[in-house]
Amino acid sequence: MTIHIDAAPGDIAETVLLPGDPYRAKWAAEHFLSDVRQVNAVRGMLGFTGFWQGHRVTFQGSGMGMPSLSIYVNELIRTYDAQTLIRIGSCGAMQSHVGLRDVILAMTATTLSSPSASIFRDVNFAPCADWSLLRAAAAAAESHDVPTHVGGIYSSDTFYDERPDLNEQMVRHGILGVEMEAAELYTLAARYGRRALAVLTVSDHLETGEALHHDLRERSFSDMVEIALEAAFA
Ligand code: HPA
Repeated sequence: MTIHIDAAPGDIAETVLLPGDPYRAKWAAEHFLSDVRQVNAVRGMLGFTGFWQGHRVTFQGSGMGMPSLSIYVNELIRTYDAQTLIRIGSCGAMQSHVGLRDVILAMTATTLSSPSASIFRDVNFAPCADWSLLRAAAAAAESHDVPTHVGGIYSSDTFYDERPDLNEQMVRHGILGVEMEAAELYTLAARYGRRALAVLTVSDHLETGEALHHDLRERSFSDMVEIALEAAFA
């Protein structure tokens, strides 16, 4: 047990999928897993372990933002020995060729600061996805009828941004989308020698202001979970 996860040793699978929203963890566990057990409820950050096509999987909520994700991923890796960690979440599109409901596979995650930033001092560490997962997810996405983009994303500390100039620079440098967690996930995976990937669906568009209607979010989320599961066990 850890401070934020009250699962017993062995209750967490080697493969952990991490939605930001704990209710998404519940929804995904109910839809995709058999023999499911709830393994965490501390602070309502629900976690579930079960089986997908014979493979043991945990869905664990990460919360929003890198400080929250950092707590769960540190504990999942250091106490429960998670080996493969895949964020499944939403992002805002930053390029005009990226549309609502498209999938983005985050090859890299640029950030201004993360909970890990201080250990790098002046070095701009480049958090990147695990290649085996990225390649498998790109292949899995091809078999789903959903436009998929592979490239850099921006992990921001703010949803309500007071610095539009920063987003403009991200757009200018080809960043596909903005979310708030992947850079810290990739950095922790690098530190502990684990595999990590962020599979994201576009829920809103920064350029046009469009946002995905609630009932379409579920279908997009479902595609993303399938791509993540197929990649994890490819
Ligand atoms: N900004 C930051 N995080 C996000 C966004 C956004 O527009 N959409 C989904 N996650």
